[in-house]
Amino acid sequence: MIFISSPRVCVSLSLSLTLSFFFSLTHQPTHMSEDLPSSWVTPHVASAFPLRHEIRTSRGEHVTLERIVYETEGASRDAVPLSSRALSQLLALIDANLGPMYRQHGRAIYPAIPKPKPPHHTLAPTSWHPHKTREMQTPGLVYVTYHDTRDPDRTPLAFVSLLLTHEPELARRAKVLYLYEIHVAHVMQGLGLGTWLLCGGVDATLRALRRAMRPGDFHGLELTVFSGNERALKLYRERLQMSLAPWSPQDCNEAKHPRPKITASQHLTRRRTRARTYTFITEDETEAIDGTAAAPRIRPVYYVLTWPGCP
Ligand SMILES: CC(C)(COP(=O)(O)OP(=O)(O)OC[C@H]1O[C@@H](n2cnc3c(N)ncnc32)[C@H](O)[C@@H]1OP(=O)(O)O)[C@@H](O)C(=O)NCCC(=O)NCCS
Repeated sequence: MIFISSPRVCVSLSLSLTLSFFFSLTHQPTHMSEDLPSSWVTPHVASAFPLRHEIRTSRGEHVTLERIVYETEGASRDAVPLSSRALSQLLALIDANLGPMYRQHGRAIYPAIPKPKPPHHTLAPTSWHPHKTREMQTPGLVYVTYHDTRDPDRTPLAFVSLLLTHEPELARRAKVLYLYEIHVAHVMQGLGLGTWLLCGGVDATLRALRRAMRPGDFHGLELTVFSGNERALKLYRERLQMSLAPWSPQDCNEAKHPRPKITASQHLTRRRTRARTYTFITEDETEAIDGTAAAPRIRPVYYVLTWPGCP
């Protein structure tokens, strides 16, 4: 397990912001916490992510991946509307990858999921599906998916979903590209596809958005990751050098500092990462080096990370 901040000190890490250059968009939305339409993102995505990508599997097989761009609003020339069929295919991939984590911690993200009842105290495996499905249809979301060209069903083997939105935690006009999802199918994991998606298409989209906006308005990528998702954290923190957002829930040591009581203000309640209260996981007590019992480590269910682009 990677601990994002020192377990001894619950401090906010400073966020190094990459301020941007030149140009401005002609109109600003009235409410600074609102999401922006996909038409702001899709043209950049269409030029940033290649139409085709060749990959060599661990068995030495060459697979050609083909791109489809979906929009929940379905209004752009470069994209197709997100059909219910595509939606279920994408949900199936999310479930295959992170189903157990959503089942265990879904209520920390979707508080509307009913509390599990005795005697088993566990949620049904699909309890989070309706909430995730609604979230996946958020207006403004753009999906970039890749499937095997030989697959008539175009089952996604990898995808990212992106939303351009305001980040009022940073500044009134601040905008970020929110990475809602990144998934690579099990058979394709560990082959470099995740890194390629982030350091290729996502990074190029960030650069294009930065060029298209008023200097200082665009602040790069933001995402949410389960604190138990070690593989993703390794990629994000170690390889791609993403930073913990100052407004992210943090690890702490209750013996030294009280568990942070985080209550987000009203205007921050709309996105899943802006829950008004954060849920923390207390880990088993561990032995300190001198043999005395150390205080339990406490980590939040998820972290919020930010990223200016590929290092
Ligand atoms: C996280 C994820 C997108 C990474 O994509 P990927 O194509 O597997 O990643 P890459 O092949 O580019 O590998 C990048 C790094 O990821 C980590 N990683 C990849 N495969 C790994 C494995 N089998 N075991 C441990 N770490 C692994 C490593 O840090 C790896 O670097 P390495 O090459 O030095 O080992 C992918 O594993 C995935 O879809 N996981 C499930 C869904 C998920 O967790 N999404 C993120 C939600 S926030």
